[in-house]
Amino acid sequence: MANKNWILMVTAQTPTNIAVIKYWGKRDETLILPINDSISVTLDPEHLCTTTTVAVSPSFESDKMWLNGKEISLAGGRYQSCLREIRSRANDVEDEEKGISIKKQDWDKLHVHIASFNNFPTAAGLASSAAGFACLVYSLAKLMNVKEEQGKLSAIARQGSGSACRSLFGGFVKWIMGNEANGSDSMAVQLASETHWDDLVIIIAVVSSRQKETSSTSGMRESVDTSPLLHYRSKEVVPKRILQMEEAIKTRDFPSFAKLTCTDSNQFHAVCLDTSPPIFYMNDTSHRIISYMEKWNRSQGTPQVAYTFDAGPNAVLIAPNRKVATLLLQRLLFYFPPSADTDLSSFVIGDKSLLKDAG
Ligand code: DP6
Repeated sequence: MANKNWILMVTAQTPTNIAVIKYWGKRDETLILPINDSISVTLDPEHLCTTTTVAVSPSFESDKMWLNGKEISLAGGRYQSCLREIRSRANDVEDEEKGISIKKQDWDKLHVHIASFNNFPTAAGLASSAAGFACLVYSLAKLMNVKEEQGKLSAIARQGSGSACRSLFGGFVKWIMGNEANGSDSMAVQLASETHWDDLVIIIAVVSSRQKETSSTSGMRESVDTSPLLHYRSKEVVPKRILQMEEAIKTRDFPSFAKLTCTDSNQFHAVCLDTSPPIFYMNDTSHRIISYMEKWNRSQGTPQVAYTFDAGPNAVLIAPNRKVATLLLQRLLFYFPPSADTDLSSFVIGDKSLLKDAG
């Protein structure tokens, strides 16, 4: 390590995920342990993803991070938890070509530089923290030759942002809430790979790319403290829904999948209204999209399209196949033309996909 003129880098790309059974509420704020299980679909990394490059060099004097080109502080507990957990599992790294040899015990003395880019609006309710922390943990683990399996890495990403644990896998993913007080069994598992139900098409109608007023973290804290509906939901509703959703995914039962997805999204936003003071993530355009989809589904006698909204006004619409997706896009453009009246500005089409390692 006498030679200070080297730098070792890893780049990785991680997609975001969209919950179809929502996570909302923690039982432990520091370890980020949820009050219920959740299920999500991981998107195609080409559309909504984070790309992160992590670098290590003896010439770096401190850990530093840049998000979308702007330096941000790593002082927060969440970044520190992820860095600490990965460093504690680091192993020897040898790069003969570059003449680099890092011993396990050296990692505590070396500093990292992290550069992360989102190819979509940050903090606008499009799960940017999910892709961001998943990518951070994944790329640091590669850099430091961490040998843990993906599930264990997901438990580390969870300590950055809860929903991030689900982005460590592609396809359909369940975050098991776990029972242990230290969070060791609160991690993500893959329910089905991205090829299992590859007819599904996901369309995101970007209603607004502005940053949300209430972050998910503070919103869910307020709900835990004040919403009776949230506690009823986590104990009485979600456990049954998780089983039904797992079955719908396994059997590719679109009507059940759509019904559960829409109902769960609506209950999550009902919890937000039940919070004191109430939290409004959706806007008028979001409500009009829901009314339109409900009318369409009812007119056909069976669900054609599923909708779900996270902590923001943007609609995530899921069609069973390309044919319905094309019809859906035509209808969206006709009923919600991009204009000054509706602030519906753009659409992103995404298929499900596996985590892609660009390193
Ligand atoms: C509505 O994972 O962003 O998207 O754990 O505090 O970082 P923290 O919250 P975050 O919350 C996501 C909430 C949600 C639902 C979901 O993704 O399950």
